[in-house]
Amino acid sequence: MPEPTTHFMREPLGVNSAPSVADERHARIVEVRTPPRSMRSTTGETRPPHPYANGWFAVCFSHEVKPGAVRIVPFAGQELVIYRTQSGLARAIDPYCPHLGAHLGHGGKVDGENLVCPFHGLSFGPDGGCVRACAGQTPPNATLTGRYMKEMNGAIMVWRHSEDRPPDWEIPEMDLSDRLNPRYGSHELEGYFDSMVENSMDLTHFGWVHGFTETALSHEVDGHKLIVTITARWKGQRFHSRLTNFGLGFTRGENALPDLGVQVVTLAFATPVAPMKWTFRWSDNPSVARFDRWPAPLRKLAYQVLNPLAHRWLISVVGGDFPIWDARTRLPHPKLMAGERSFTAFRRWSAQFYPPTSGDDADAGHVLRMSAGR
Ligand code: FES
Ligand SMILES: [Fe+2]
Repeated sequence: MPEPTTHFMREPLGVNSAPSVADERHARIVEVRTPPRSMRSTTGETRPPHPYANGWFAVCFSHEVKPGAVRIVPFAGQELVIYRTQSGLARAIDPYCPHLGAHLGHGGKVDGENLVCPFHGLSFGPDGGCVRACAGQTPPNATLTGRYMKEMNGAIMVWRHSEDRPPDWEIPEMDLSDRLNPRYGSHELEGYFDSMVENSMDLTHFGWVHGFTETALSHEVDGHKLIVTITARWKGQRFHSRLTNFGLGFTRGENALPDLGVQVVTLAFATPVAPMKWTFRWSDNPSVARFDRWPAPLRKLAYQVLNPLAHRWLISVVGGDFPIWDARTRLPHPKLMAGERSFTAFRRWSAQFYPPTSGDDADAGHVLRMSAGR
């Protein structure tokens, strides 16, 4: 894939704000007359929204944007336009043409390395600058508003920061060149996009929702990384998983059933697209030790058969989370059980990705500590 590039970034519109402490108190005082905010409405969303986070987020898979394609993607309360030049460079830009505001995702066309606006035909080069005007005109001094982006691990990742700051941490490229025939999945969900990473720290649910037994979990915080190690049994088989969360948008999972010689690398992406709406994407890349000894054509065939089955199995296991993520609320003061201190660690770690004023995580951290200590 082409070398990633960076662009000037602008603050997206429509950022949510967390409820203030004053709001919380007010809600308690008036709850006699109004339903509690945690009660689900049949006519609209009543769960408290959560701010969009800072960090790297996938806006689409790479294979969804072929050379010459122009796509509109929702991201953090607004639309972005993603396009790929004929030579294969992917670009992520704000949608509106700097000339007279045409939406470049509605009728914009790739012409070689340029993007051409549908309204008056201005052409913009890969660095965003206007390089050509229609006949008889001189190109204006105008530039598309680009986003910091990287294309890696099969996805187009866009950086977001609430104060317009450039990226101060990166996601590594995974070498999965030995993996054949990876499978991809995508689900549109409601609720809280950080459920994906929080889920990696939720030991109790691995047994109750996913059917693992003899579960144990440990974690390590390393700046923007949260590394979770899980050991368990799956239908009697030993199971190991090492989940490395890079911020709240990307999780690399190295999962193994060592006695069967099966290993699956999963790349999972959580992307906030609108208030209380998010997209969960993932790819799974199995490898089976015994296949390595087989001749290449047979190996290829084996993965062609195995991978769709492995994909279905993963969906059947992970899919147990989807309806719960979709419908759950976010409690500022959850009542934790013994052994659930990992939630405290998750909220403390994840607070670094939110604007300081969003506040409820710091408050919740205190309550979480007290609850877990009981
Ligand atoms: S609005 Fe894009 S060229 Fe005029
Ligand atoms: Fe889960």
